[in-house]
Amino acid sequence: MKNVNTKASLKINETMNKKLERYIEDYSSPEDPVLEDLYRQTHIRFVNPNMVSGHLQGKILEFISMMIRPENILEIGTFTGYSAICLSKGLRPDGKLITIEINDELSAFAHFYFCQSGADEKIIQMTGRAQDIVPTLDRMFDLVFIDGDKREYVEYYQLIIDKVRPGGFILADNVLWGGKVIENESNDQQTSGIINFNSMIRNEKSIEDVILPLRDGLMLIRKKEK
Ligand SMILES: C[S@@+](CC[C@H](N)C(=O)[O-])C[C@H]1O[C@@H](n2cnc3c(N)ncnc32)[C@H](O)[C@@H]1O
Repeated sequence: MKNVNTKASLKINETMNKKLERYIEDYSSPEDPVLEDLYRQTHIRFVNPNMVSGHLQGKILEFISMMIRPENILEIGTFTGYSAICLSKGLRPDGKLITIEINDELSAFAHFYFCQSGADEKIIQMTGRAQDIVPTLDRMFDLVFIDGDKREYVEYYQLIIDKVRPGGFILADNVLWGGKVIENESNDQQTSGIINFNSMIRNEKSIEDVILPLRDGLMLIRKKEK
């Protein structure tokens, strides 16, 4: 009997959450038609389309970028370009966003949508491993978005932190990893990667952070000015 009740209440929660999600979308500004098309085409043409940011997360990235008004943004993990377009909307007039993607099969698709959105002049696409490319970048960043391979988050952080200006921000996606971060038995490499990253951040003295329970968990990190 208890089990049946638990199942029934889980079902009600799920339905409520779906309705609330719909409500939140309905009462947030509508998705840009170019992004809507990018999202749809990503789902038609690519495996693992759920990696794409989507409407709500995209709007939040756009708003964060607009609040910071960065001159230089770095993104690790372009995928099909959704988040890059959103983040680029907050750039200062002469600002640039560098986005790095290891999979060269994605670059033409992303470039097409950068052009469609009018952001192609502001976005610099780089193809290769972030670990090889980041050390060659000779500029300081006001905002960095970490959204690559979950096993490599610690490496990315260590490579970029000296390239973030004091007072600058890092956003790290998927830091709750579908809730696996609190399951004791999860020891797959991606979960371990995220758990190690979160622990490292907790022990870092030169930054402050907060986790937003948005989608799969979005961590906001601010590098202290000393
Ligand atoms: C979650 S997806 C990025 C989603 C995208 N930022 C968005 O919000 O729409 C992660 C991407 O990181 C790429 N990636 C994985 N490891 C990488 C690495 N070491 N360097 C650069 N890109 C990497 C993957 O190929 C994949 O396209």
